[in-house]
Amino acid sequence: MLNVKLFHMDTFIPTHYEEAIQPRMKISQDKLQNGTGAGSDFTGWVHLPRSYDREEYGRIKAAAAKIQSNSKALVVIGIGGSYLGARGVVECLCSPNYNLKKKNTPNIYFVGNGLSSEAMGEVLDLLGDDDFSVNVISKSGTTTEPAVAFRFFRAKLEEKYGKAGAGERIFATTDKARGALKSLADAEGWETFVVPDDVGGRYSVLTAVGLLPIAVAGVDIDALMRGAAQMMDVCVQEGYEENPAWRYAAIRHELYRTGKSVEILACYDPAFRFMSEWWKQLYGESEGKDGCGLFPASVEFTADLHSMGQYIQQGKRLMFETVVRFGDSARQLEVPRDDLDGDGLNFLAGKSMDFVRDRATEGTLLAHTEGGVPNVIVEAGEKNAENLGALIYFFEYSCGLSGYLLGVNPFDQPGVEAYKKNMFALLGKPGYEDRKAELEAKLGK
Ligand code: PA5
Repeated sequence: MLNVKLFHMDTFIPTHYEEAIQPRMKISQDKLQNGTGAGSDFTGWVHLPRSYDREEYGRIKAAAAKIQSNSKALVVIGIGGSYLGARGVVECLCSPNYNLKKKNTPNIYFVGNGLSSEAMGEVLDLLGDDDFSVNVISKSGTTTEPAVAFRFFRAKLEEKYGKAGAGERIFATTDKARGALKSLADAEGWETFVVPDDVGGRYSVLTAVGLLPIAVAGVDIDALMRGAAQMMDVCVQEGYEENPAWRYAAIRHELYRTGKSVEILACYDPAFRFMSEWWKQLYGESEGKDGCGLFPASVEFTADLHSMGQYIQQGKRLMFETVVRFGDSARQLEVPRDDLDGDGLNFLAGKSMDFVRDRATEGTLLAHTEGGVPNVIVEAGEKNAENLGALIYFFEYSCGLSGYLLGVNPFDQPGVEAYKKNMFALLGKPGYEDRKAELEAKLGK
């Protein structure tokens, strides 16, 4: 069971802060459970692990099986909340080198998450003549990056299979009724999956948004949902002992209140990299508004101890760390013995890599804490689908609580629109003519 531990936290903040925050925590809990807080139209994810649409869930599994049987690759088109969760889970459970591995499941390419011509061209080249399918994911159905990418991959599909054949290989995950993508999918007869109205992008990994690509990669989505449902039952409870989300939300709020402005998520497993990217969006978009919020950053240890480690140890005291720890590795390697011992490493011979990693973790916890960086540990258990489902729900729930403690709406993202308006104006989108002239003047054009 997931556990939150505070590492020598009493050297940083008084021990009674949990009691002090408790009344506001209860109010935040009530807002999430009963949908009575700001943004309550977007709290569908709270009960989702038990209330999801079973009919659609069956179609997700059937579509995944079809893609596995007729495609060597799946192109997943989406950005932000419409891609980071799926990529995080696939890389965490199947490997960041998933596409390079020998396997019975299709390669998965994530595109439409930027505007790099080279990156997209490379995926078009990598697909070559291989059979492939496309899962285009956009809640709004109008986001520029995925919409542009979809034009390229739809054209490649239609060229290869004809319009009707391509239609069998396009799966659109979008709003149930609105948006350009939904209209297009209905007109063309593509299979569609729904991003529920009451679930925002960054909370949507356990809907079809994440589940279809994750299932195609061969991950046991039943186990993922089971873990999330178990954590949902834990998070409904009130109390710091019973509910790890209370403990995590309380400590990060107290550290923020007493002066920390950056939270660094750390993990000693490089496969966790895109889970950290997902976490950064979740917390950054949920809390970074109204001039407040912790800045979410991430590091991969031990690699980043050799790059960011210096700053964390001795730079400006801005941050605290949240360390996600998994249990024993599925594959155990031991440090080899070398009779000559030229590198002087025989004191480690026969020791497992996990043993070396765990001593590095402990040494780092002690060093960073002594250097003035508080550390929170999230013990996530063995790295598997069930525990990852629990971890995802735990972070989502803690994020909702944290946002309400902070006094913001954790479910909107008004700031994301600012760049889009400027981009549309500068690209000459109809309706933005006045703004275009104003922006071009500022750019000196
Ligand atoms: O969390 C969010 O709401 C955003 O990150 C969106 O997921 C992202 O902007 C993509 O939006 P859409 O799914 O509408 O294309």
